[in-house]
Amino acid sequence: MLSAARRVASANPASLMRPLTAISSSASFSTSSSACAPVPVKNITVFGSGLMGAGIVQVAAQNNFNVTMVDLNPQALQKGQDIITSSLKRVAKKQFPEDAQKQAEFIEKTMTRVKTSTDSEEASKDADLIIEAIVENLKTKQQLFAMLDKVAPEHTLFCSNTSSLPIGEIAKATKRVDRFGGLHFFNPVPQMKLVEVIRTEATSQDSFDSLLDVCTRMKKTPVSCKDTPGFIVNRLLVPYMMESLRIVERGEATPQDVDTAMKLGAGFPMGPFELADFVGLDTMKFIVDGWRKEGKIDDNLVAPVQLLDDLVAQGNLGRKSGQGFYPYSGVGGKK
Ligand code: 3HC
Repeated sequence: MLSAARRVASANPASLMRPLTAISSSASFSTSSSACAPVPVKNITVFGSGLMGAGIVQVAAQNNFNVTMVDLNPQALQKGQDIITSSLKRVAKKQFPEDAQKQAEFIEKTMTRVKTSTDSEEASKDADLIIEAIVENLKTKQQLFAMLDKVAPEHTLFCSNTSSLPIGEIAKATKRVDRFGGLHFFNPVPQMKLVEVIRTEATSQDSFDSLLDVCTRMKKTPVSCKDTPGFIVNRLLVPYMMESLRIVERGEATPQDVDTAMKLGAGFPMGPFELADFVGLDTMKFIVDGWRKEGKIDDNLVAPVQLLDDLVAQGNLGRKSGQGFYPYSGVGGKK
């Protein structure tokens, strides 16, 4: 069951990093054996039905996992289901062009694997894997996992999709730190092929292998990273976006010209301002402010930018609010 994951692991940055452990033993991953065995995941419960949560639910359901999407109220769950169906329509059109019946069947079949619930305990009792994609607040996440630790089966793996909080700190709220890791998906989840699989010092090899296996079965490409600020992608992407803001703040170029430059000169699908609007300016500010407080990243890389602070204070958060660096046709609309 786990052979695919083991193949990925052998070609994975974790193994590429092994020579480093010869230089610094403190840099090595924990390989301590734990009581837990690999988990052949069938049932996934996702907490949070926002863009990320709904995207994870969709991709899991498309790839034959049974998924339960959990949120606080039916309205939030309905929004999540709407995100999933509108995205599935795009996928279906691509898979079955010109065949409306097959498109409808594909959507219906995928949705039969998705359950929704507002009852966290009930939704967790059959879960092999729980993925949390709720609000980026350490205490809230810790409270959720502390509760889930009491009600989920012993074998259940716990994961956070956090982009900015230390996985190890969230895991501390539970007694299953060996079965706790990070699964960091990217927006839009159905389209972006990468998942960062985060292992803490305490994550067991079996748990890690199980998470890699889940990613490959979701037809994603996993990369592994230690529990460090921003992991790989955001560690590189966020300072790059902040530096773009500084270029504009210094009056050296316009957002439009920076975006054009990076798309046509560096081959990026979106320029940094389009991407910042896409990710959400509040999210970007939250990440940078958090890193600055943590003090683990060079101060210059995370220095505040007034332009960003002002837009967030005005409620101009990007695509989700209808206005960021660019105007959008309504909330979540097109540029
Ligand atoms: N569901 C399903 N498919 C989707 C989709 C969705 N929600 N959004 C886009 N797609 C598919 C489209 O169907 C289309 O497929 P095709 O090319 O096979 O026909 C393809 O994506 C391109 O979509 P569009 O033609 O509508 O638009 P673009 O060509 O402009 O691409 C984009 C949109 C995929 C978002 C592209 O601009 C892109 O890759 N941008 C960069 C996104 C990125 O960097 N994401 C990471 C952000 S960082 C992050 O998420 C981390 C977090 O922690 C902050």
